[in-house]
Amino acid sequence: MAMIGTDINHAVALLKAGQLVAIPTETVYGLAGNALDLSAVSQIFKVKNRPSFDPLIIHLPAFSAVSPYVKAIPEAAAVLAAAFMPGPLTLLLEKSEQVPDIVTAGSALVAVRIPAHPMAQQLLSRLDFPLSAPSANPFGYISPTTAAHVDEQLGPQIPYILDGGPCEIGLESTIVGFPAGKPTVYRKGGIAVEALEGVAGPVEVRAHSSSNPQAPGMLKSHYAPRTPMVLGNPEDFIAKYRVEEIGCIRFQEAFHGVPKAQQLILSPSGDDQEAARRLFAGMRQLDSQPLSVIVAELLPEEGLGRAINDRLRRAAAR
Ligand code: TXA
Ligand code: MG
Repeated sequence: MAMIGTDINHAVALLKAGQLVAIPTETVYGLAGNALDLSAVSQIFKVKNRPSFDPLIIHLPAFSAVSPYVKAIPEAAAVLAAAFMPGPLTLLLEKSEQVPDIVTAGSALVAVRIPAHPMAQQLLSRLDFPLSAPSANPFGYISPTTAAHVDEQLGPQIPYILDGGPCEIGLESTIVGFPAGKPTVYRKGGIAVEALEGVAGPVEVRAHSSSNPQAPGMLKSHYAPRTPMVLGNPEDFIAKYRVEEIGCIRFQEAFHGVPKAQQLILSPSGDDQEAARRLFAGMRQLDSQPLSVIVAELLPEEGLGRAINDRLRRAAAR
């Protein structure tokens, strides 16, 4: 068990001493360390059991603090930053020499994010280095949206978890890069593609590939519970499993053939933001039950529904 609390001074002291701290953001909890400290960064990979080819996002208090770490800021990046930062957006920019290669896994691009969560903001503005912070879960598992989620899995390996309450957004940030200057979504996330397009015009979405070593968050099998998950209609599984063995993830309405306690209803009112906020905690809850299969229903492919469906598809790809 890690120590859990709201002591920002303590978090600052640990991070300055090269230690790791789990931190709240509005998307998901991150496992943070000094991005300029090689031993802190390698500790992050070790605690998460994360392959070294999977690069880390750096977190800063404001977009204005990004210049030492990048070589250039494309016009479209500046436009998106002005509209959505701080917030659930990550930009892929050409890295400067300041950013250690271990952080970007050798890539010439660095992923930059400015979290909006007030506690993350307070913490980052007290540091004179960026924080590398992947989601605070073992590699491949569901991202944590509460301090307790972090503690359950990584608690024994980290000295402190800063508790900022349940995450407001509940999905990881949207990752946007700029090949040839054109905004391109590499991971669907907390900012809907429609919202990006409202500001930047048409954007390309490349977040479909099944095994892209350039962005392993896009690996087909990711964000997955231990219980086998499938996409489809629970009706089709009633003949194959006992009713007590079937879990359901549904958008608005329960499935009538399975007990309610085995079902995650994401948003009875059909609100995609509420659905996003509840998804990961609900998946963990189902995963803690003795189920043999979790049958998930996809949401309409619009707004945050696209990012939610992306996570459901990946979770089912195992
Ligand atoms: O919302 C978020 O983005 C959360 C919070 C904690 O900030 N962080 C997060 O980090 O989701 P992580 O490491 O779990 O996912 C980051 C994704 C990975 O799939 C990684 O491959 C991709 O971003 N990524 C990071 N740096 C990259 C780079 N230089 N080029 C391409 N992809 C990169
Ligand atoms: Mg992750």
